[in-house]
Parts: sequence; structure tokens; C-alpha cells
Amino acid sequence: MTERSHEELASVLCDLFGLAAAGADVTPVGRGAMGQVWRLTVSGASYAVKEHLWGVDERAVARGAAFQRAADAVGVRSPRNVPTPGGGLVGHLPEALGGSGVRLYEWQEGPAARPDAAETPQRLGKLMARLHGLALEAKDPPEPWYETVDEVDWEHLAGASAARQPWQEQLVEALPGLRSLAALVTPSKPDDRILCHLDVQCSNVVDTDRGWVLLDWDDTGAGCADREMAMALLRWFASDGVDGDAIGRTMTAYREAGGTAVLDPERSFAMHAASCLNFVAAQARLALDDAHAEHHADAEKRLINVLTALPDLATYREVERFAMSCDGGKGGAAT
Ligand SMILES: Nc1ncnc2c1ncn2[C@@H]1O[C@H](COP(=O)(O)OP(=O)(O)O)[C@@H](O)[C@H]1O
Ligand SMILES: [Mg+2]
Repeated sequence: MTERSHEELASVLCDLFGLAAAGADVTPVGRGAMGQVWRLTVSGASYAVKEHLWGVDERAVARGAAFQRAADAVGVRSPRNVPTPGGGLVGHLPEALGGSGVRLYEWQEGPAARPDAAETPQRLGKLMARLHGLALEAKDPPEPWYETVDEVDWEHLAGASAARQPWQEQLVEALPGLRSLAALVTPSKPDDRILCHLDVQCSNVVDTDRGWVLLDWDDTGAGCADREMAMALLRWFASDGVDGDAIGRTMTAYREAGGTAVLDPERSFAMHAASCLNFVAAQARLALDDAHAEHHADAEKRLINVLTALPDLATYREVERFAMSCDGGKGGAAT
């Protein structure tokens, strides 16, 4: 986007959210799978703008905002959602600027939380215990993304051997691993479900001078505490070898703060496995979709990243073992 259209975007955003537009500016912050984030600066204040490139589910927005409020009341901080003058949380860009739904949040200054920082296990354990302690009822069913893997034609996605792109070569190598992950995927039991954030990872935590702030409540929905805990431990402490000490300390802090989820080697990793597989399949389809050529390069990059860091069953076992060690290896929650 040119300088001129940055100005245009800034002014339209101010208009949508009822801010004075004089001197407003936007700069790109990051591009995730679901959208583009901008920093909007206006009248000395800063906002994060999330442009949802694949549409916005208003029901999910309301669910996320309600969970954010409940979590705030128990000490889990998050950026304030800035409403439109009409009181909604989503604005719509004009077609000439892409037509996407956009949301505005107060900007949080600071680096992303680091898994290797000394205080991270303590903070993460406490944060998860507070979220799970709410045990809010999940009114909607879980997203299939976390629970099932559709029949995927991996051979088709991997392409013909003579004309494979680098990500497809990697996909071929990963196929046995993907199949063993698929064998772990099971739906959650309705009685085990509560409202979960479902995306607690370092890039969604800003380490501000007032402590951690949790971002990205867009995926809030039905989940199981143990599955969310397994997912968080994997994402924070198993991307470059398994950090057993950090896992043990996180679980200890989680228990001390009242967290009761217990990892079950047979069931707790199903959500992580399902989301990995669904992510790979979705990005591979996107990378091959002629109607979305503008997304191919990003999809290919994401595929290389995820296929390079694909978990295996041994990693799951190791994470589970370290997590259990805080309960004396017996797997019972502290009472
Ligand atoms: N309120 C905010 N304050 C500061 N940075 C933010 C804020 N919201 C988002 N960001 C930055 O933008 C990135 C992407 O935003 P996020 O809501 O996590 O979207 P995505 O769905 O792409 O992960 C975050 O990792 C963070 O670096
Ligand atoms: Mg995010």
C-alpha cells in the first residue's frame, strides 16, 4: 500500500471509530493467517487495528469480548476494545479499501512475552489458572478445527513428484508424522468443555511495564482446560526441544493458583494435533488455490514453518511427563 493510501486508511479508520482524524497515521505491524494488524496513531494516542481479511464472525466477537471482561475481573489483563460510535466492535472498510471488517484496540507497548524469561512459567501458570478458574459455560459447540480432521487428500496436496514446490517436498516427508497425529484426534466430551481463549501463545502476550496483557481473543470458544493447557505448554516450551523445567514450574504455578486440569496422554493432545493438521491442510489448499494467488507466498512460508516444527508423539509424551511431575507423577490434581 502506498503512503497516500496509508493516509486514506488512517482517515477512514478514524471515521469508523469516531476519532478526530487530524494527523492520523497507520503503520503495518504484522500479518497473521487471519488478517493484517496496523498501528494507528492519532492525537498522541495509539491503537492496534485488526483487519480481518477472511470476514468476521460477529457472534465470535461478542463471545471473545464477554470472556475478556470476565477474565479482566480475575486479573487477566487485555487491551480495551474501542467501539464504533454505534456501540459495535466491528467497523467495515469501504470496498475501495478492501471491504474488510476491522476492529480497534488500545495499543499495548512492550515486547512479546518470552518463553525463556525467568518469570514466564510462573506468570503463564497463573494466567491459565485464572482463565480456567472462571469455568464459564461454553454455549456454542466447539469449532471442528479443534476437534476433528476431515478426510484430507494429502497426496493431492503434495502434488506430482516431478513438479513439487519446496513446501510440497516437505509435506511428503511429513506424511507419516501427520498420519500419526491424526490418530490422536478425538472430539472433546461435552461435560469437560468450558469457555477457553484457545490461542495462548507468546505472540499473543505483550509484556508491558504493568505486567502481561493477553491479546487476540478472536478464537475464544468451547474447549477443555487440559487440552488448552497441553497446547499452551507445547507452544511455549516445546518449539526448540522440550524445556521440562519450565513445564514443571508452569504446572506448579498453575496448581498453586487453583488450576485443576490434568494432562491425559490419550486425550489432552487431540486439540493440538487437530489444529496442526487443519492448519497444514488449510494453508496447503490456499497455496494451491488459483483464485488466491496473492496469498500463495505467505501460505508457503507458513507451511514451511509449521512443517519444520511439526510435533511428534514423543514430544507429546515428554511434555505430558514433565507436566505430571508437579503432581508427584501420579496425575492427580492438587486438592
Ligand atoms: N492491542 C495491541 N497492542 C500492541 N500490539 C498488538 C495489539 N494487538 C495486536 N498487536 C500486535 O499484532 C500482532 C497480531 O495481532 P493478533 O491480534 O494476535 O492477530 P493474529 O490473529 O494475526 O495473531 C500481535 O502479535 C501483536 O504483536
Ligand atoms: Mg495472535
